[in-house]
Amino acid sequence: MDKQGGESRRIILHTPEDFEGMRRAGALAAACLDMITEHVRPGVTTGHLDQLCHDFMVERGAVPATLGYRGYTKSSCISINHVVCHGIPGERVLLDGDILNIDVTALLDGWHGDSSRMYVAGTPSTKARLLMDVTYESLMRGIAMAKPGNTFGDIGHAIQTYVEKHRFTVVRDFCGHGIGRKFHAPPNVLHFGRPGEGAKLAPGMFFTIEPMVNAGRYEVKILDDGWTAVTRDRSLSAQFEHMIGITETGCEIFTLSPAGLHKPPYAA
Ligand code: MF3
Ligand code: CO
Ligand code: CO
Repeated sequence: MDKQGGESRRIILHTPEDFEGMRRAGALAAACLDMITEHVRPGVTTGHLDQLCHDFMVERGAVPATLGYRGYTKSSCISINHVVCHGIPGERVLLDGDILNIDVTALLDGWHGDSSRMYVAGTPSTKARLLMDVTYESLMRGIAMAKPGNTFGDIGHAIQTYVEKHRFTVVRDFCGHGIGRKFHAPPNVLHFGRPGEGAKLAPGMFFTIEPMVNAGRYEVKILDDGWTAVTRDRSLSAQFEHMIGITETGCEIFTLSPAGLHKPPYAA
């Protein structure tokens, strides 16, 4: 794909009414991530957490968009410790010190609300806490670059420089994405890059920013289940995801936590 024209032409510019649809879908995903917070503790299975997310979305008129998506059969992705993303919920029991990403996408009235946060079971290591803090801050620095006239390269560069300043690494094999009536749409939103590179941001663009940050090297591999991505060196990995819409003056974050539960540690 060519860098500017070819891809930017295919990025949809949405209307004010479309913003309203995304606001509702994003708020539902965020409320689901709020709801799950108090359930994350040692002794619970990831399958139980997935069921709670499923029921929360369905009870509010949404469909978990991951259900049946390219053969995926769960309502969330739950990625523990060295799992980078797309961990499949199941019988795994959370242990004291585990850090985990929970990623949900609610399909509500035709609009997709996609967001993820980190959680902890019990007490995480100092290193794990730093990794989560740096990952969250890198996402917010990327979002700070999201305004008309800037480019996708500006976003990636802001994320990458902050992460590497802390001697962590940005995963290259997964990226953010356009979103809206479709779950995954153009463009690919890279979490690394150079200032001024890539398509220009314009009002009405909807996309996610969802950096995956590793404590060790950035290489990943996919396990035999065809989904679970892990760090090749088995180092810890963290991720946060927000969904935003570009406005005339900056951006609107559709997936802010209604309860203010942005990142660990969450109040007991
Ligand atoms: N929610 C993920 C994202 O941020 C996609 C998960 S697709 C699944 O793009 F099939 F793995 F669930
Ligand atoms: Co996403
Ligand atoms: Co997601």
